[in-house]
Amino acid sequence: YWTAANIIDDAIERVRAQVGQDEVILGLSGGVDSSVVAALLHRALGDRLTCIFVDTGMLRFREADQVMATFDRHMGLNVVKVEGKERFLDALAGEADPEAKRKIIGRCFIEVFEEQALRFSDARWLAQGTIYPDVIESAGGATGKAHVIKSHHNVGGLPETMKLELVEPLRELFKDEVRRIGVELGLPREMVYRHPFPGPGLGVRVLGEVRAEYLEILARADHIFIEELQNDGLYDEVSQAFAVFLPVKSVGVTGDQRRYEYVIALRAVETVDFMTARWARLPYEFLEKVSLRIANEINGVSRIVYDVSGKPPATIEWE
Ligand code: XMP
Repeated sequence: YWTAANIIDDAIERVRAQVGQDEVILGLSGGVDSSVVAALLHRALGDRLTCIFVDTGMLRFREADQVMATFDRHMGLNVVKVEGKERFLDALAGEADPEAKRKIIGRCFIEVFEEQALRFSDARWLAQGTIYPDVIESAGGATGKAHVIKSHHNVGGLPETMKLELVEPLRELFKDEVRRIGVELGLPREMVYRHPFPGPGLGVRVLGEVRAEYLEILARADHIFIEELQNDGLYDEVSQAFAVFLPVKSVGVTGDQRRYEYVIALRAVETVDFMTARWARLPYEFLEKVSLRIANEINGVSRIVYDVSGKPPATIEWE
């Protein structure tokens, strides 16, 4: 019968049989699936697992530090952290088109991962957090965005000479099962039950051209929104919530000074399958609190708006 502990024991046995005494590398994103694979393989293989974690500069507020604190310091995994911010931002400079931005981010990811993977010439295996819905999606030929992102870590992106074979211990599991084994493996609950986050990260939440200054403002505004959702017990009530940076200057006033500053949009949705979604009816008092905090704590923002669009016609992300 199904229990998280049974699934883990079974997966560990299978991984050990599959890789024997070999070394394994894993692209760790901080997302649920790759995090659970990391914890599982660490239990199965110990030091024979090396994780490669790329800080793209487009992660959530202090997310890179959290990932390192959890996996490297707390759980004792081998994690190689790669500072990628400059490379990603340089590659994105001047580009405002959303699909072009996604492609650039994907390409940078592959390049960084490839370079790092070459340093682990002893590795014979590449682990991936493919879950059952990803398998179905690619079998059906659908070009889901999540799948495209997963393919960044795919062998397809690695040099022929490396001849890495795939280890995919979550291939038969659904998301809720992955979460349950994540908790059982000792991952922090906040990490396992985090809202989904797109592969290109804040890169698609800064509308148009991505700049370091915009990312900084966005990460802080997003953090305030999420922190207040958690404080008020609303985080788990919504399926996904985040802030978006609008690079337009809108007029604001402080004292008798008119100032032209950026706009932050807040988005929160309720959905089961992410194919359609309803905007979350967050309490006005709550929105007011978040709006005041963003305006008071972040320089450069004087207007905050709440997105009241459903999907359709809008998508969940703004790009
Ligand atoms: P949309 O915006 O299409 O989003 O309504 C549906 C879900 O997919 C996520 N999303 C992405 N995930 N790479 C990803 O891995 C992407 O490029 C991407 N774009 C959207 C989005 O956050 C939502 O959960």
